[in-house]
Amino acid sequence: MVTASRADLPGATPGPGPAGTIIETEALVPGLIHRMRFVAPAIARKRRAGQFILLRVDADGERIPLTIADADPNEGTLTIVWQVVGLTTSKLAQLRAGDRLLDVAGPLGLPTHIEPWGRVACVCGGIGTAPMYPIAQALRAAGNEVDTIIGARTKDLLILGGEMAQASDRVLFCTDDGSLGYHGFVSGLLDERIAAGERYGHVFAIGPVPMMKATVAVAKKHGIAATVSLNPVMVDGTGMCGGCRVTVNAETKFCCVDGPEFDGWGVDFDELQKRLASYREYERRALEAHDCRIGLGGR
Ligand SMILES: Cc1cc2nc3c(=O)[nH]c(=O)nc-3n(C[C@H](O)[C@H](O)[C@H](O)COP(=O)(O)OP(=O)(O)OC[C@H]3O[C@@H](n4cnc5c(N)ncnc54)[C@H](O)[C@@H]3O)c2cc1C
Ligand code: FES
Repeated sequence: MVTASRADLPGATPGPGPAGTIIETEALVPGLIHRMRFVAPAIARKRRAGQFILLRVDADGERIPLTIADADPNEGTLTIVWQVVGLTTSKLAQLRAGDRLLDVAGPLGLPTHIEPWGRVACVCGGIGTAPMYPIAQALRAAGNEVDTIIGARTKDLLILGGEMAQASDRVLFCTDDGSLGYHGFVSGLLDERIAAGERYGHVFAIGPVPMMKATVAVAKKHGIAATVSLNPVMVDGTGMCGGCRVTVNAETKFCCVDGPEFDGWGVDFDELQKRLASYREYERRALEAHDCRIGLGGR
């Protein structure tokens, strides 16, 4: 991690501040989905599509993995987009420009495997649009034609439509309630498009586990290879603790060092879903304890 400020160097023009300094924050969906740009020059220079960081907000906090949604190597900044689901993601949402993240490690994980597939479908559910954005950019840079399908429960929860329109040849929206675009799930729209004659050389799917499972089932039905980006709980991010283990093609893999992207046809989604659910009660209690301390004047 880089700790020196560019502004500290003799003769340097004033820079944006030391590594971890937050440049700007924005609520994409107020109270739920946020975007932040912060200083991390070394990571911004090295990162590639598909990679993530581990960050800590404060000394009492957990390390959480978040995908690098975008990076500017010239400015030395990273952009993350996250959904508030528990303690750390809600603490992160309270930070503002000028505040500083405690530490950021990365880039972690293997970069996205990209081939000249011709036409590719990028299928995103909910917050999965954020990790898909750099992948769509990289697929297009490699000469692929990119169709992006973005889904959410309702139109107010659809994010990054403009960014995805720039990174893709076509963007299609789906909502569960029919408030915008196709009325139904992203997997349903993908199925209809392929059945109607669209030819895809590869499918990428990122989102909640049931959405990835359903999308991979559609791709498999039509004989199309699929890549998914998995989201198990991560602790150390180095392949040592085993917290992020997943089963792919009947082999145990560590998502942090072997992934986060895997062959969708081979993923044991049911096991991943069970493992995510097993932490839920502990995480709920951690958030409640934090809220109680805030109520008592604690931090
Ligand atoms: C490689 C990787 C990249 C990720 N990138 C992003 C990203 O770009 N944007 C984003 O919003 N999230 C991303 N996530 C998920 C993010 O790490 C979790 O939402 C976060 O760790 C939750 O922390 P918390 O303390 O706020 O919530 P916790 O208290 O840990 O959890 C609160 C609730 O969220 C559920 N939850 C926790 N972790 C996950 C998870 N990994 N997947 C699904 N549900 C979970 C819990 O079961 C619980 O119900 C990524 C995860 C991985 C493994
Ligand atoms: S997070 Fe510990 S092995 Fe992957």
